[in-house]
Amino acid sequence: MEILEQMKKEFTKQFGEKATRSYFSPGRVNLIGEHTDYNGGHVFPCAISLGTYALVADREDMTTRMYSMNLADKGIIEFPMTGLAYDAAKNWANYPMGVVDVFEKAGHKATHGFDILIYGTLPAGAGLSSSASLEVLTSVILNEAFDFKLDMIEMVKLSQKAENQFVGVNCGIMDQFAVGMGKKDCAILLDCNTLSYRYSKIALKDASIVITNTNKPHSLASSAYNVRRAQCEHALNELKEVKPDLTALGELGNDEFNQIAGHIEEVLERHRARHAVYENNRTLAAVKALENDDVKEFGCLMNESHFSLRDDYEVTGKELDTLAEIAWQQEGVIGSRMTGAGFGGSTVSLVKNDAIEAFKKNVGEAYTKKIGYAPSFVVASIADGTHRLAD
Ligand code: GLA
Repeated sequence: MEILEQMKKEFTKQFGEKATRSYFSPGRVNLIGEHTDYNGGHVFPCAISLGTYALVADREDMTTRMYSMNLADKGIIEFPMTGLAYDAAKNWANYPMGVVDVFEKAGHKATHGFDILIYGTLPAGAGLSSSASLEVLTSVILNEAFDFKLDMIEMVKLSQKAENQFVGVNCGIMDQFAVGMGKKDCAILLDCNTLSYRYSKIALKDASIVITNTNKPHSLASSAYNVRRAQCEHALNELKEVKPDLTALGELGNDEFNQIAGHIEEVLERHRARHAVYENNRTLAAVKALENDDVKEFGCLMNESHFSLRDDYEVTGKELDTLAEIAWQQEGVIGSRMTGAGFGGSTVSLVKNDAIEAFKKNVGEAYTKKIGYAPSFVVASIADGTHRLAD
């Protein structure tokens, strides 16, 4: 593989030795079920063939040196394999550092460091989980090197913990789960309340998954994300007053929710909770439709998901709405919606194969005209979760 050949050369240049093993960790795209994971609902993501490659060599001391070919200006970043704390100066290496730290705190202590070269094929800021990709990658490297015998779900949980507690981003479990547990040609229906899951084959026949990146430069996603979480938690607590056995919004049917929604005092919070409930039930309906070969219905539910994220959850914004609105007008588009946290990042669309070229051209032109800069497109293929590559 050409990427790995280039990486091998770069590894020797940076570290003056040869790497002994290589890994790949995918990114993810969520097909439907947005902002449901931390509300105890279902998600339906898949791992994609774009992601993060690593070349690794063991060191004898307790130092790890990391270099990213994407962020060459940051140079080699060094850190010890014990007693770590978040350090802004270490930039992107805080993700792997966070994983080392949560592993250590869980009793999985490293006994030496590594030289690691990273190369990512995920566009930065596209909302395709480059951070989860790097976290699960680090977990797999540690698990193998020290024979901790953790299964993938344990590593997924530790990777999420690294993001929550070390990096300080209060994300749910979806991204790390999709990255670690991904399976070629399948999406994962995951119940985030119980972590029970199953794979569902994605056979779109004459259509493909097209990811369109807004290329929006900056976003305040993290603070707004935390506000949404808090609003849903507050709404849940109010509903618990009338339904004491309720543990998550994801447990409610739509009618059941409507009967008790009046107990949520703030209108805004009622809307946030309504999204969480409806989106969860929509996800279950969408998977059922897909499994009944009704791709058209799946597409309609994707569009409805976007409406709800736009109107009730208010996490879309001008760029994502523009992309979705233009997509809905195109020939051959089965469905289109924002994917990931929102505010920027990407949309996911199901597009008939013979319409993809026209889709790219028309959406590209209309978006550029309205927003002032161009979006970018990736036709995704669905890949396996994080794994070691053959030597
Ligand atoms: C981000 C988070 C996920 C999930 C999505 C929204 O990607 O990391 O846990 O909450 O937003 O569905």
